[in-house]
Amino acid sequence: MSKLQPLLDQMTLQEKIDQLVQLATPFFKGAKDAGEITGPMLSMNIKEGNIQNAGSVLGASGAANIRAIQAKHLEENRLNIPLLFMSDVVHGYKTIFPIPLAIGCSWNTDLAEESARIAAKESAVSGIHVTFAPMVDLVRDPRWGRVMESTGEDPYLNGEFAKAQVRGFQGDQLKESKEHVAACVKHFAAYGAAEGGRDYNTVNMSDRQLQEMYLPAYKAAIDEDCRMVMSSFNTVDGIPATANQHLMNGILRQEWGFDGVMISDWGAVKELIPHGVAADKAEAAAKALRAGTDIEMMTDCYTSHLQELVETGVIEESLIDQSVLRILQLKDDLGLFENPYRGADPELEKQIVLSEQHRKVAKQVALESCVLLKNEQVLPLTKTQKVALIGPFADSGDILGQWSWQGSKEDAVTLRQGFANQLQQEPFVAKGSEIEAITAAFVEEALIIGEQADVLVVALGEDATMSGEAGSLTDIQLPEAQLTLLENLATLNKPIVTVIFNGRPLDLHGVIEHSDAVVEAWFPGTEGGNALADLLYGEQNFSGKLTMSFPNRVGQIPVYYNHYNTGRPKDAADAQVRYVSQYLDSPNGPLFPFGYGLSYTTFSYQEPVLSTHQLTKDETLTITVKVKNTGHTSGKETVQLYVQDLVGEVVRPVKELKAFEKVSLQPGEEKEVQFTLTEAQLRYFHADMSYSSDPGSFKVLVGPNSQETASQLFTLV
Ligand code: NOJ
Repeated sequence: MSKLQPLLDQMTLQEKIDQLVQLATPFFKGAKDAGEITGPMLSMNIKEGNIQNAGSVLGASGAANIRAIQAKHLEENRLNIPLLFMSDVVHGYKTIFPIPLAIGCSWNTDLAEESARIAAKESAVSGIHVTFAPMVDLVRDPRWGRVMESTGEDPYLNGEFAKAQVRGFQGDQLKESKEHVAACVKHFAAYGAAEGGRDYNTVNMSDRQLQEMYLPAYKAAIDEDCRMVMSSFNTVDGIPATANQHLMNGILRQEWGFDGVMISDWGAVKELIPHGVAADKAEAAAKALRAGTDIEMMTDCYTSHLQELVETGVIEESLIDQSVLRILQLKDDLGLFENPYRGADPELEKQIVLSEQHRKVAKQVALESCVLLKNEQVLPLTKTQKVALIGPFADSGDILGQWSWQGSKEDAVTLRQGFANQLQQEPFVAKGSEIEAITAAFVEEALIIGEQADVLVVALGEDATMSGEAGSLTDIQLPEAQLTLLENLATLNKPIVTVIFNGRPLDLHGVIEHSDAVVEAWFPGTEGGNALADLLYGEQNFSGKLTMSFPNRVGQIPVYYNHYNTGRPKDAADAQVRYVSQYLDSPNGPLFPFGYGLSYTTFSYQEPVLSTHQLTKDETLTITVKVKNTGHTSGKETVQLYVQDLVGEVVRPVKELKAFEKVSLQPGEEKEVQFTLTEAQLRYFHADMSYSSDPGSFKVLVGPNSQETASQLFTLV
């Protein structure tokens, strides 16, 4: 019996039901925004009693604020059950790290863990107990604005980053350590596969795709003991995730053994009605609870209807008890029954949040996550060159991304400030255009400023609202106004370095042809400007590599590296001119592939050497490759290992990432990188969905990105 059972036994049915609701801060007395109930919150049927017994709070921040809400709540809650405070701390609390898609491009899971640890520390001291992160949805469609929250298109890489972030957020000991927060992996499941890249849209995929590509990263987070899971808005095989018994009870709880708390996404329980699987709020409540949704976020289906559903025998009270116990357990795991204020400390908060040390790590993450896409002998810049910084992002603090609600643009180092810090003098600056509008006066000023310089650094991009939640687009080129600016600047015939700030892989037509160098800066976070100045001046070397393919054209989407070959692959030796799988007006492949990124130095790879060419089921295959820095600058190289199963019962991807290692190399230095493979890593879902490997031939591919690889064959016997 749970030690929390006696507490549960004292609770009335309505008190139990109210534990299952999560409300935003304006509902709570003592909150700094108490009573500001606007928009959809107005129509919520929330009564005084529901608030007094509520289990958790959404989006509160600040140690003093959270202490005040908790204190008031404990005065009014009959059984003194503390509130849980949950918030979206996705890539930093006040010290904002690069967006997760950028962090993925660092291929540095230690840094990802460190950034999550710092985000947890800043949140915990500000009173937060749970973060709605990591977001680990696999993404293949850059039209979907939320690709910025994910680490990209690969199931293995996403899983490695999921684990790193969970470790960073949660640490080893949630109860003793007041510096960590519980993690909530989201959005379960397959939210990233919304049809057409339109947010909240239907997801249609085979069980095989789901199991093989989409589920592994959530599973990795659960294996790392992630305490919470958030269900996704979408349907999975025709049933919304929030009411999907197969997904939640079957896969998550029974198969994977998850015993933590499941929370719906915002309003997702009530959305079962417009989805068309519930006639009303009562039916929505019954379906969500049956599927194991413990907490209903921001709608009142549970609070308004579970009581009557129990009284009429539709829902067994034991189901409610089970959910309440899970929530109480999480409160206990966080030590809230001993200390309901946990880490919330207004004095410490001032010292810890946005500290110099945290900014230093944010800069390091930004340094490793910017990706150099093109460089025709123009970078690095030299300090003797006269540089003009032109564009709407030349001096903009809007470089934090959409999930940075506590981050402030004023705390962000803009590109101009980064250059000024680097050069010890102000660079020439012109705005050139707004994000989506340009005038003749803008162009004129930009040309005058540009004329005086030896090299133009053109800072373009999408503002934060153009990606993120509900930020879907059908056109993923930069806004016309900015392309016009670039076109005009090109008439000056000066070297152009284009730096792009944005949250998704773009269609770079209009940018590539007018730029001698292109840097994908993503939304680089609080220290973005300093990191970019170091990179552009060669004080630091680029080492970021893409974890999501850049399409040639939007019409190719989805374009991703681990696709199937088809029966008529375009590049086969006997390929016909016409009757192959291709577009007539575009290459099949991406403009920049998964794993791609340039450096100021060059690396040479020797042929990979295999410890055996016959692998038995209990042996380990070692793959050794020598990598050498053949240039004149020190640098970091991410060596990538892929595998192809040449003949399977089920068609296998042309390549699957199995391992990677980021190594530092001095000029002329050579290192031996070793990877291992076992039979377990060669398993896949067969026709009957059993998970096993096939004896036969495999290709091992090693290289600097998913396209330039050298290969060796081996046989699994
Ligand atoms: C909706 C988003 O989909 C989810 O990611 C987020 O955690 C919740 N809102 C809470 O803010």
